[in-house]
Amino acid sequence: MDFSKTWNGSSLRRYSPFCRRFCTLKEINQKLTHSGICTYIGGSAALLEGHRKRMHEKDLPKEVPGPIGPTETRSGFSIPVADRVLRLPPYLFARINKLLYEKRRAGADVIDLGMGNPSDPPQDIVIEKLAAAARDPDNHGYTESRGILNLRREVASKYFKQFGVRLDPESEIIVCLGSKDGFSHLCLALLGPGDTAVVPAPSYPPHVYAVILAGASTISLDVTKPDEFLSRLAFVCQNLFPRPKVVVVNFPHNPTTTVVEADFYHELVRLAKRYSFLVISDLAYADVTFDGYRAPSLLAVPGGRDVGVELTTMSKGYNMAGWRVGFCCGNAEMVRALATVKTYYDYGMFRAIQVAAIVALRHTDAAVEAQAREYQRRRDVLCEGLERLGWPIVRPKATMFVWAKIPEPWASQMSSFDFAMKLLKEADVAVSPGGGFGAAGEGYLRLALVENEHRLRQAVRQIGRCLGQAQSQPPARVAGT
Ligand SMILES: Cc1ncc(COP(=O)(O)O)c(C=O)c1O
Repeated sequence: MDFSKTWNGSSLRRYSPFCRRFCTLKEINQKLTHSGICTYIGGSAALLEGHRKRMHEKDLPKEVPGPIGPTETRSGFSIPVADRVLRLPPYLFARINKLLYEKRRAGADVIDLGMGNPSDPPQDIVIEKLAAAARDPDNHGYTESRGILNLRREVASKYFKQFGVRLDPESEIIVCLGSKDGFSHLCLALLGPGDTAVVPAPSYPPHVYAVILAGASTISLDVTKPDEFLSRLAFVCQNLFPRPKVVVVNFPHNPTTTVVEADFYHELVRLAKRYSFLVISDLAYADVTFDGYRAPSLLAVPGGRDVGVELTTMSKGYNMAGWRVGFCCGNAEMVRALATVKTYYDYGMFRAIQVAAIVALRHTDAAVEAQAREYQRRRDVLCEGLERLGWPIVRPKATMFVWAKIPEPWASQMSSFDFAMKLLKEADVAVSPGGGFGAAGEGYLRLALVENEHRLRQAVRQIGRCLGQAQSQPPARVAGT
């Protein structure tokens, strides 16, 4: 792709109310970015280069190249990879993962709170159904790429039970190979060069790079204060031309754990109608909520399905991350566009998995609730431990993560990458550095609640020892609380 031909590179000038003069789109976007209202990742190679620099290039291991240029094999034959691959930054967790692997190979017992990969198994009846369905010779052929009807019906029942939303399994639900597959193919279905998507910052990386892979640009808006997110979104819609085509929201949010109430979606739908953007709501953590909080659905709000779709998954609450079962529900046109793209990319999910997923959705509600309570207990153990070390902790109301501000004096002495490497090297605890989720995540760590309570206590002790901090006594419990 010739980057100069993307809209950001256009030399056309138009009046910008924000700049109060005629300027090029590039100037408008730079002004928006420098104002601190948002971060822009556009199609131009220079902007991407700047983005790459911000993302701690110095921290990258030598053996992880990126962005990749035309490569030479031993035979001297050069491999010119596609431009879309050049637009991707290097994988920022590579160095941490490499050290984690080396430590484990050398026999160290590393407590891994890095990835949000559930460590508990699915329910026995689900596994038994999978085994039985796998023995049925009829279940081994290609299936419908949008998912078998009975699974889509079961998803409709779950939406009704959980959110009071009635969906048409024929036109408003599609089964995806995990919600990440749904999201990335949806980006291909809705976005292309010249389009812009607003994405949350800090960012779950696919929210940015699936947009970039589709050839479009992103505008990142801080999600940690949802009201401000909405007012900044309105501001961007008023000042950017062309306006954003898609707005990606993700509440409960990975990595910051920010949550919203239903009124957020009322206002989002109002803005979507006013400024004609489409909404993709990533509701991956709908089943992992705490203290009585329930994550609302975009589709439960009047007009929600006029403007958008929602992605849900069986990876988290059902402990089926490796099974790759997700759903995209809502606006029938958007679901149809996704279905069209997917027919060219996959032949549907293994039927035995779909049959077992029906059993999970129909019969394991209690286990999903129990799993959420398990994550809540782990949250309490980890947060209490870190609070005793003096860390400023905000307890999450949802997700399987704790988003922890790095305490002083380390916060002003080192980047989140260096701090995460220190914890891995000296405390045998692996965590995700906030900077891996973009510049907005710098100064934070993400700790996944994927180890049991005993291991989490041990992780806190090891972190305390590594930082030279003795744990203070737990606050005395008041009788009756
Ligand atoms: C916000 C968010 N969306 C989507 C996913 C991916 O879910 P799935 O396993 O359904 O692809 C994750 C996984 O960590 C996530 O954090």
